[in-house]
Amino acid sequence: MLKDLVQVARQADIAVISVDNPPVNTITAAVRAGLARGLDQVAGLAGVKAVVLRCEGGTFFSGADLGEFNGPPKEAEYRALLGRFEALPVPVIAAMHGTVLGGGLEIALACHYRIAAPGTRFGLPEVTLGIIPGAGGTQRLPRLIGADKALELILGARPVDADEALRYGFLDAVVDGDLGQGGVEYARALLARGRGPRRTSEHSVDPATGTQEIFDRFVAQAKEHYPNRVAPLTAIEAVRASLRLPFGEGLLHEDKLVNGAKTTVESRAAVHVFFAERGTRIIPDLSETARPRPVTTAAVIGAGTMGVGIAVCFANAAIPVTILDISEESLTQGLDRVDRVYQTMVKRGRLTPDEKQRRMRHIRGTLDYTDLSDADVIIEAIFESMDLKRKIFAALDRVAKPAAVLATNTSTLDVTEIARATKRPQDVVGMHFFSPANVMPLLEVVRTPQTSAEVIRTIMELSRPLKKTPVLANVCYGFIGNRMMEGYAREAERMVLEGAPPRQVDSALEQWGMAMGILAVFDMAGIDVGVNVHKANADRYPPDATYYQADFALVEAGRLGQKNGKGYYRYAAGDRTRHDDPEAGAVLRARATELQVPQRRHSADEIVERCIYPLINEGFRILEERVALRSADVDVVWTSGYGFPRYRGGPMFHAETLGLETVLAGIEKYRTIFGPMHWQPAPLLVELVRSGRSVADWEHSS
Ligand SMILES: NC(=O)c1ccc[n+]([C@@H]2O[C@H](COP(=O)([O-])OP(=O)(O)OC[C@H]3O[C@@H](n4cnc5c(N)ncnc54)[C@H](O)[C@@H]3O)[C@@H](O)[C@H]2O)c1
Repeated sequence: MLKDLVQVARQADIAVISVDNPPVNTITAAVRAGLARGLDQVAGLAGVKAVVLRCEGGTFFSGADLGEFNGPPKEAEYRALLGRFEALPVPVIAAMHGTVLGGGLEIALACHYRIAAPGTRFGLPEVTLGIIPGAGGTQRLPRLIGADKALELILGARPVDADEALRYGFLDAVVDGDLGQGGVEYARALLARGRGPRRTSEHSVDPATGTQEIFDRFVAQAKEHYPNRVAPLTAIEAVRASLRLPFGEGLLHEDKLVNGAKTTVESRAAVHVFFAERGTRIIPDLSETARPRPVTTAAVIGAGTMGVGIAVCFANAAIPVTILDISEESLTQGLDRVDRVYQTMVKRGRLTPDEKQRRMRHIRGTLDYTDLSDADVIIEAIFESMDLKRKIFAALDRVAKPAAVLATNTSTLDVTEIARATKRPQDVVGMHFFSPANVMPLLEVVRTPQTSAEVIRTIMELSRPLKKTPVLANVCYGFIGNRMMEGYAREAERMVLEGAPPRQVDSALEQWGMAMGILAVFDMAGIDVGVNVHKANADRYPPDATYYQADFALVEAGRLGQKNGKGYYRYAAGDRTRHDDPEAGAVLRARATELQVPQRRHSADEIVERCIYPLINEGFRILEERVALRSADVDVVWTSGYGFPRYRGGPMFHAETLGLETVLAGIEKYRTIFGPMHWQPAPLLVELVRSGRSVADWEHSS
């Protein structure tokens, strides 16, 4: 087994160490053991004048094994292994391709020379996982390119391409053609020029690149870009040590810092989300024998905001997709919108004009249902109306081929009832995309009691080419995400009626870590959209005269959000910058007076607690009712669909960070102030606090 992972071959006086650990050459314990043996083998070969390190498959090492994160520290092992590469008495060349991340790049930094295929990308994403590069990266990189550039890469945490890597100076050459051969030729050329080993550890950091002023600038930047987090500051401290400490001591200091970082909430949270996202396709109650159906063609009904975004997802995956709309005019508008989506990508350099054309050729429009008869999956994305949706599904039932999956993108309607409009409810499922559908990674997959296992598997698998993170939900009002949104948004709106300026509410939430304050979200989505949902669901809402009344008051005053330049905020035409608007304040105050809402002052803590506690509380109900398969899925929904900070791990992880008793006490505190209508703790939360168990305990035992 180990023999297969790492092989040593010889081309005359050059030894080539090749690693093959599909799919992405993760640096597992077995790979490290294989590399150590490879080095032993190389040491035993006579006459080797240079060593090339490369990987088979789609990429050079894509990074360390996060599965080892919670185990015993591995830094010492990395240190010894990388030290052996660096200490080799002959030149060592890393020949790289694909996406070289984290530990993968750190291995390359320990080699003496670095070359790469065109298109290779390099990055140190550790700070986004709450840690710092821990395999020498914080000590070698500044020695190679200076402390300032090292920090740019470490704090930037985004991959750079080969050209940038050349400019940064940690890459020596870009090599066209076969990389294996290119590595050997590069080695020969070095030898021909009499070049020997070039050990990064023997350099010192240029002090001009690490002045107090430079570090101050990075500290300020880190605080701005990574609020509420310490890993970026720890990384700065580690890089700073590279100027002060000899290399060996610097490595030990890095080791201490990285192991400290691993114990922080932000790193445990980020690792939790990382694995939670990889676990969402595991569905314990689905029969093993249920196989996904192949999806080679698709259709979308409705060429509006969502329909277009969904069609683009299919075209990006090279799955031909037909969009159907009700009139030539709306169809043309939709197809124009597709063009604009791709145009923007071309403008931003993310797509070539040729690729744009190629993708657009996968999308065609129609007004005729019979054009959908060969689609393997049909996704309905028309207005949120049960009557209309049922009509569409009845029509689909007539034209869709047997075994086609019939999906709805509804946000709130009962998928079971929609399915009843067909004679094949087993083939009906919810596919709840988020706006913009071609950008947002979350896909809630909503099953009804009738949805077949095969259909669920089909959609869970289809989400791979569509590049979505699927989370399975049982049908209920709002599914997982929007159902939890209810209390969160309700409190935000209630607080503006109590006199909190919209900006105060949004800022408190944003400073806490939400990607965007909820009132700004409503302005962006259209406040009227929410109001229509509230009206359609009035019969299920609690008897609270103030319920979502901020939204109602604004819409009644003609304030629909960004679309007409005024909502909770005011906007200049074509500009999304939020401006405080006294007129909005007056509308909200008038409604509060009318409803006799007592005015109060709000601290940032109160704002966050009143929004986040109901969110968590509903999460517990969702778990108890088995709407979600597991609490990690709830966390994925909120981190990938609603801008909940990954460094807090999602609402359920955050609840455990706060302590369940703290959450319960908080809910009870607000129940005392505002009454029980909205502040009833979920029975599961109460039970866990009473029995002193964690969510994980409950999940294992139930
Ligand atoms: N906009 C969002 O943020 C969002 C997010 C998730 C889910 N959704 C859901 O997605 C669905 C679509 O929302 P949207 O925002 O894209 O709406 P939209 O108003 O932008 O688009 C609806 C499209 O459907 C077309 N249409 C209407 N009746 C039709 C019919 N009978 N046959 C064919 N086409 C018809 C319209 O012409 C229009 O192009 C709704 O169910 C909504 O709840 C919306």
